[in-house]
Amino acid sequence: MRTPIVAGNWKMNTTLADASALARAVADGVNGIDGVTTVVCPPSVSLVPVSMALSGSNVFIGAQDVSAEPQGAHTGELSADMLSGLCTYVIIGHSERRSMYGEDDFTTAAKTTTALAAGLRPIVCVGESLDVRESGDANAFVASQVNGSLAGIADISQVAIAYEPVWAIGTGRAASPEIAQEMASTIRSAVVSMYSDKAADGVPVLYGGSVNADNAASYASAADVDGALVGGAALDGNAFPGIVKAFAASA
Ligand code: 13P
Repeated sequence: MRTPIVAGNWKMNTTLADASALARAVADGVNGIDGVTTVVCPPSVSLVPVSMALSGSNVFIGAQDVSAEPQGAHTGELSADMLSGLCTYVIIGHSERRSMYGEDDFTTAAKTTTALAAGLRPIVCVGESLDVRESGDANAFVASQVNGSLAGIADISQVAIAYEPVWAIGTGRAASPEIAQEMASTIRSAVVSMYSDKAADGVPVLYGGSVNADNAASYASAADVDGALVGGAALDGNAFPGIVKAFAASA
């Protein structure tokens, strides 16, 4: 039985003060909800104030990225060891990192390896563009991203995978629950081929792309969808707990 994960990716939003206030709203909103792992991923400068705001709550913290390098002369980067003192999860290979910052499956696998070595739990993102979907190659493309993004990683027991179709991110054009289910199942099959039935049974597969409090229940009822990676709605202190509740109700 996989515990659903609902993670809020705040991206490059919130001031220090906003971040603390939003974290408090999330903690209040999910207080008493069992059966779901709630995660917030604030900008890295807000990891400390957010961890203070969440102290004593049942909300976990994630980072939005991590360096593949362990330490040293890498101006502007944050190492996995720095982050592991502050957070439990880390988003890796988000489509915005891939499309705007030149990251690929190879980078994603390197970062995932480094994050795991530091005891972080990676949320590895995959997902096809609209062109790939319209050409009918989405399943093969995403399976190949899973292979490449987990290359060289022996144990994925601490890894979650997020299916985030690029065309659904920030567009209001959410993937249908049928597409989310089909692609989550494709991801699970790719994990069977790379690892084992047991690994595939255990790996949480999240859906991300225009998830909100109104459509969350439709994803929560999809057999292979084990949670959500939420962008815009995660900045709303009422909507985000509503998404967590939708997954709790179907857990
Ligand atoms: P939206 O929920 O704003 O579409 O963003 C999804 C996302 O990119 C989460 O990582």
